[in-house]
Amino acid sequence: MNIRGTTKVCGIIGNPIKHSMSPIIHNYLAKVKGLDLVYVPFETTNAVAAVAGAYELNVLGMNVTVPHKNAVIPQLKEIDSLAANIGAVNTLVRVDGGFKGYNTDILGLKRQLELENVPLKDMDVVIVGAGGAARAVAFLCASEKVKSLTILNRTVSKAEEIANNIKQVFEGFNVSAYTINDYSVLENEKKYVVIQTTNVGLHPNNLEAPIYDKTFYDRVLYGVDIIYNPSKTKFMQLVNESGGQSFGGIKMLLYQGVLAFELWTGTSVSEEEANEVLQLLKKELNIDE
Ligand code: ATR
Repeated sequence: MNIRGTTKVCGIIGNPIKHSMSPIIHNYLAKVKGLDLVYVPFETTNAVAAVAGAYELNVLGMNVTVPHKNAVIPQLKEIDSLAANIGAVNTLVRVDGGFKGYNTDILGLKRQLELENVPLKDMDVVIVGAGGAARAVAFLCASEKVKSLTILNRTVSKAEEIANNIKQVFEGFNVSAYTINDYSVLENEKKYVVIQTTNVGLHPNNLEAPIYDKTFYDRVLYGVDIIYNPSKTKFMQLVNESGGQSFGGIKMLLYQGVLAFELWTGTSVSEEEANEVLQLLKKELNIDE
């Protein structure tokens, strides 16, 4: 790496930051694109000062991770409307006088689904979980005009809160909330796109799934798990055993990075280049297939 006076700096703020995959993604892309750019981790507990400091230091772009994805929002000059609705930002792009915030986590999922031919528009969609990730997926579903959205969560009040928030923004949107044990509300004769957003099944609990009953999985056409470790979760296995197609979370991680890089640099990352990054991520994460 040849760092000079002209080198542009991008980075990621969060706490902790040591295990972030983002430096690997962005420094690789900068190299293959031949850009004079370096990407570094910034561990910080003070998101407000970090955003102001990054602007003063002429930082080109930033990623934001836990626990700062909400706290940076009041510090932004502009915000993308989907990120504003979700209430979480993971990418800052330098604009005149400050940064514009985006949520490329959710735009990454959107790109993954498009590339894997998993439709959302006019589909009946189920989200399992009602945490931060589920909230983002729910707003994506509304903005992509799904036919219906059912949110299933262990704590039903959290699912209801997301449903109510969405209805305030997308009037008349067909969304309902149930406790996870009430999956029998899903109609027998329908096939659903199901997006699994809980941390059930995450390494090392590889044998766990949020739901085990085959009658639930028989209604699943496409099952998307946002977990990327293990690469094939128990949820994905159960989807496959009932004849559905399943997808894991690593491409969401990949494309959130690719999209941020494209926003900062104005370049377009080819599928071949994205695939090279994917192989690097799999190697780094010890994911075999
Ligand atoms: P994230 O930001 O990744 O979405 P989160 O906000 O902590 O993480 O949300 C975790 C989700 O996993 C929640 O929907 C949580 O359910 P509760 O709202 O009832 O806590 C869900 N979850 C975690 N452990 C679970 C378990 N053992 N069974 C079912 N759901 C679980």
